[in-house]
Amino acid sequence: MTLPKPPSTPSDAAVQPDPASARPLAIAIAGAGGRMGRQLLELVAADAGSHLLAAWVGPQSSRLGQPVPGTALAYSALPEASTGKHDTGDTARPDVVVDFSHAGAFDQVLAWCWRERVALVSGTTGLDASQHQALADAGADIPVLWSANFSLGVAVLSRLVAQAARLLPDWQAEIVEAHHAGKRDAPSGTALALGMRLAQARGGTLDELAVFDRSRDDQPRRPEQIGFAVVRAGDIVGEHSVLLAGAGERLELVHRAGDRSIFARGALHAARFLAGQVPGRYAFEDVLAG
Ligand SMILES: NC(=O)c1ccc[n+]([C@@H]2O[C@H](COP(=O)([O-])OP(=O)(O)OC[C@H]3O[C@@H](n4cnc5c(N)ncnc54)[C@H](OP(=O)(O)O)[C@@H]3O)[C@@H](O)[C@H]2O)c1
Repeated sequence: MTLPKPPSTPSDAAVQPDPASARPLAIAIAGAGGRMGRQLLELVAADAGSHLLAAWVGPQSSRLGQPVPGTALAYSALPEASTGKHDTGDTARPDVVVDFSHAGAFDQVLAWCWRERVALVSGTTGLDASQHQALADAGADIPVLWSANFSLGVAVLSRLVAQAARLLPDWQAEIVEAHHAGKRDAPSGTALALGMRLAQARGGTLDELAVFDRSRDDQPRRPEQIGFAVVRAGDIVGEHSVLLAGAGERLELVHRAGDRSIFARGALHAARFLAGQVPGRYAFEDVLAG
């Protein structure tokens, strides 16, 4: 679904935090009750440079109305963009919303940020093409930054994969990813992003080259394919392996996340970066670049 551009509001004179101000960054977290949301709550609580303004959870969450540990706030429902209310659970507006929720909640989060002219950092995966388009459209009015993976190691892995794909143009590429049993989208957003880098480095697109299911194939693999394999088990935080196989040798580039806090730290870093930016669509690489 493509989100319609919101009508102009008095808040069009976007609230951009004054970079010179010493005031802590005011953050609202969407998906605050989830695995990533809880990591972010801990991190923000321990960070003198940021301050929690709202902790949003799903409409059916048992946390609704409960106190957010270590704060004077209560968990609240994702605000509706159509009301135009600054329903943050506090009187002020956040400088930035950090969203780790679900693709089904993403449109509401983006619509609220867009209408309220609030910067959005999102790590929610499983978004479809129209949701990515809506993010790009919102970038005309607010700063937005989406990344499938906020780990430093994966950012470097992504560059290495592109380089290896260019240096070894005839080697066959496969991506294997593993995550905990609770993950709902597959393949992971990170695996798809790595596949995109591979495809681009070889002058193609992921739509043309990706193979997600070989159970009905009765033909040998085509050399240019990019194959995906998915593991879901236990409490695996996240593993991505890119295999490039040539004649008689193979190269494997692997990243293993041992702890979810790496993503939360990366997202908080991105939030600090984004809050001082003019409207636009930013990438995690922009944060790392400076
Ligand atoms: N980019 C990265 O670096 C990175 C890293 C890890 C995970 N992720 C992604 O981040 C997202 C969250 O991961 P997680 O492991 O924290 O998942 P999770 O534990 O399932 O938490 C998801 C949260 O979203 C809320 N939610 C789900 N559906 C909703 C809806 N329709 N409306 C409102 N809220 C809704 C849930 O609400 P309730 O409170 O009702 O349960 C919960 O608080 C996933 O897309 C995951 O793939 C990204």
